[in-house]
Amino acid sequence: MPRGFFITFEGLDGSGKSTQMRLLARTLQASGREVTTTRQPGGTELGDQIRAVLLNSSTQNVAPLAEMALMFADRAQSIQAIIEPALAEGKIVLCDRFTDSTEAYQGGGRGLGSERVLALHRTVCDDLWPDLTILLLPSLDASLARARRRNGRQLAQGTDENRFEGEGRAFYERVFLKYQEIGARENLRVVTIAEDASVETIEKRIVEIVEERLTRKTSS
Ligand code: TMP
Repeated sequence: MPRGFFITFEGLDGSGKSTQMRLLARTLQASGREVTTTRQPGGTELGDQIRAVLLNSSTQNVAPLAEMALMFADRAQSIQAIIEPALAEGKIVLCDRFTDSTEAYQGGGRGLGSERVLALHRTVCDDLWPDLTILLLPSLDASLARARRRNGRQLAQGTDENRFEGEGRAFYERVFLKYQEIGARENLRVVTIAEDASVETIEKRIVEIVEERLTRKTSS
């Protein structure tokens, strides 16, 4: 059985990545591919508990290194329970956030630096990297405005995953810059989509990129 294909979606809160991942999953399934979708933090029983603790705004005074370690604890569980088994079965795995998020948010946003994140990744994730990463990076203002509208809706529904969204603009600027740096450094794996186009335009672009990469994989 040939190994599957691992795709991650990255971007700021409000970048539209979760919507795009859902649309891509639907398109791939409609074309007869077997697809597993998951997200980080979360997706496993342990991961959902880690997510609840890390994202709830009532969780306060979290040391940046503790935050990073918990993100990796979640990821290790997700790799063992979801990602590796699905790849071994030849499936396409779509994951909403992966280690690039830790590099951008904890490495950039919290100021821990890239090296510490990448070192932990080598140890805890056995240096597993996606075959392709779609990085949605519209302007900081567009993302922040969308994230704020979503938080308003969430609070009205009684859910609270707002701990990160409570951070100020300077934090998100650091996250944004680190994402740009990752996109430039990892330009074979990461495709950066920076324009703030319609959902349909971005969707079409992503399908083209993914189809091209999947064809390249089967012919290699
Ligand atoms: P999301 O599921 O809406 O994308 O939210 C997850 C939040 O967690 C988001 O604010 C980014 C943050 N996060 C990190 O800070 N580091 C990480 O490694 C991951 C996976 C997420």
